[in-house]
Amino acid sequence: MTTDAAVPTPIEAVPAVVKARLSEVFDTVAPTVAAISPVVTAGVDHLRSFVLDGGKRVRPTFAWAGWQCAIQSDGPDAPDSALPGAAHLNTSDVVTLGAALELVQACALIHDDIIDRSDTRRGRPTVHRVYRAEHLDAGWVGDAEHFGESAAILIGDLALAWADDLTAALPRHIAPIWSAMRTEVLGGQLLDIVNEVSADESVDAALSVMRFKTAAYTVARPLELGAALGNASPQLISALAHIGHDLGLAFQLRDDLLGVFGDPKATGKPSGDDLVAGKRTVLIADGLARAQAADPAAAQALRSALGVDLTDAALARAREILREVGAGAAIEGRIADHLRSALSAIENLPTSAAARADLAAVANAIAYRNA
Ligand code: IPE
Ligand code: MG
Ligand code: MG
Repeated sequence: MTTDAAVPTPIEAVPAVVKARLSEVFDTVAPTVAAISPVVTAGVDHLRSFVLDGGKRVRPTFAWAGWQCAIQSDGPDAPDSALPGAAHLNTSDVVTLGAALELVQACALIHDDIIDRSDTRRGRPTVHRVYRAEHLDAGWVGDAEHFGESAAILIGDLALAWADDLTAALPRHIAPIWSAMRTEVLGGQLLDIVNEVSADESVDAALSVMRFKTAAYTVARPLELGAALGNASPQLISALAHIGHDLGLAFQLRDDLLGVFGDPKATGKPSGDDLVAGKRTVLIADGLARAQAADPAAAQALRSALGVDLTDAALARAREILREVGAGAAIEGRIADHLRSALSAIENLPTSAAARADLAAVANAIAYRNA
């Protein structure tokens, strides 16, 4: 097995290395974009700053961790050198994969912000709001809101197209995982908005959205993709998929807590965003069920706080209800359970102690993040 890394890149350096690759991607497309019109260059500049100036690079970090597990695996799980792509066990490929994952994420977020009517992302105005403001400032004709959304749809599409272009250079055997990941995130998003409009309050509905929209997309598939790139055995890929599922649920459950109790300065999203958006998270579904059982008037108060603009006092009351009925603590308990299960599976992975330690550190960090 060969890698092209003379000095191994530590996992903490993944965000910076992937950012540099993303910057190259924008430089590569620049001439084609400029040949169309300065208008398109300006649009791509919005995308460029969205992609380069923010984001935790969670998916590239998991891809990297999966790849390390694969290339450092031992015994019968050691990479099969006969597999296609054996010549590609190099750092460059996993960095390209990370950049592609970030571009899919840019598309998913830009479109999600239209769907959720969000004003802020990564601490800045969302792309459709930037375009709406441009329309208003320029005094253009037509509906500024609709224009903003139309432009942001196209910017998101560009990001997705470039993500796919990047993967074309990677060994083909990862393609089915990549394809499943895209289907799962879009399917999960569709399921999410249907649950929202049908006002499905069940914990099960929230859990199934979470399984596809987050657990698969954010953790399990990136881990699998990285591992597949390192020619991992099917057993190792499947063990990582299980770990990824637990960690993905922990990640999303933390998101549920941050969406209600988080500090906007840290999250880059407005306070109580999930309540105002009327999101059907596990936290909210569980809170409603608990309140219904303990105090139906509180359940009614919570229900009426969903999907409407809230005063500070109403937001504080909704938070208080979720705490009082024990929903916040229950979510903390679920996070701890998923993390424990993932950490014990990580301990048994047939790979080096260093690869296991890296994955365990990332697992702890995402379960207990504040942003
Ligand atoms: C995030 O969904 C979008 C993706 C699946 C990519 P949400 O709507 O649940 O999350 P935030 O709060 O806007 O980030
Ligand atoms: Mg959203
Ligand atoms: Mg959404």
